[in-house]
Amino acid sequence: MLEVSNAVVRYGAIEALHGVSFEVSAGEIVTLLGANGAGKTTTLRMLSGLHAPVAGTITFDGRDVTRTKAHQFTSLGISHVPEGRRIFPQMSVEENLEMGAFRRRGSISEDIDRMYETFPILKERRKQLGGNLSGGEQQMLAIARALMSHPRLLLLDEPSMGLAPMIVEAIFRIIGEIRDAGTTVFLVEQNAAQALRLADRGYVMENGRIVFTDTADKLLVDPRVRAVYLGEAV
Ligand SMILES: Nc1ncnc2c1ncn2[C@@H]1O[C@H](COP(=O)(O)OP(=O)(O)OP(=O)(O)O)[C@@H](O)[C@H]1O
Ligand SMILES: [Mg+2]
Repeated sequence: MLEVSNAVVRYGAIEALHGVSFEVSAGEIVTLLGANGAGKTTTLRMLSGLHAPVAGTITFDGRDVTRTKAHQFTSLGISHVPEGRRIFPQMSVEENLEMGAFRRRGSISEDIDRMYETFPILKERRKQLGGNLSGGEQQMLAIARALMSHPRLLLLDEPSMGLAPMIVEAIFRIIGEIRDAGTTVFLVEQNAAQALRLADRGYVMENGRIVFTDTADKLLVDPRVRAVYLGEAV
């Protein structure tokens, strides 16, 4: 479904990605693991057209989307839940959801109802301002808003960041349900243990490079992953 080949991304004089290659097949949950500053967010920004690579290619459904602009990515079927959630704090929960569908015509109330089934807490909070929600509720809202555009590929940037373990569990369970309902997921995480338990495959990124990749099961027991990301001695 998605294939990235030798992508190089720069911030001015700084090269943040030094030729990154990976792929995601339809129906998978693929996780991208890496420490602070590894280049995970940059990778997602590249995949949603916010920061085009200066070299390399991105192919989506066999189509070259390397130079596609951000506003066109939603129509391609790629939706991005950014780092730090970025919901609209001054808008109600329901208005936030409506914003997620702003490129679509016709009634969106069915979709909103579907989101309230997946995230019952958002229904309870529907009239509240986004800014008044808890961190976990804001993350759920950010995911629900992204789903409003009916993406085929959902990009998630550290959805567990700063959340209590119980909330993280709920969010990861929902990410599994989203995949089971037919949306492919590319999940950026620092929470390696939980991400690998959910994912089919993973890539490990260090300093702007993919350093290794394997099935999630194998990465979970890989000494390199365990030492660095699961806090265990090799
Ligand atoms: N706007 C920017 N201008 C210059 N350098 C940047 C910019 N954004 C990121 N970088 C640099 O690019 C590298 C990758 O950053 P990125 O945010 O992609 O990492 P990350 O893996 O998402 O980290 P974190 O886990 O902290 O979110 C870092 O060295 C960072 O300092
Ligand atoms: Mg980041």
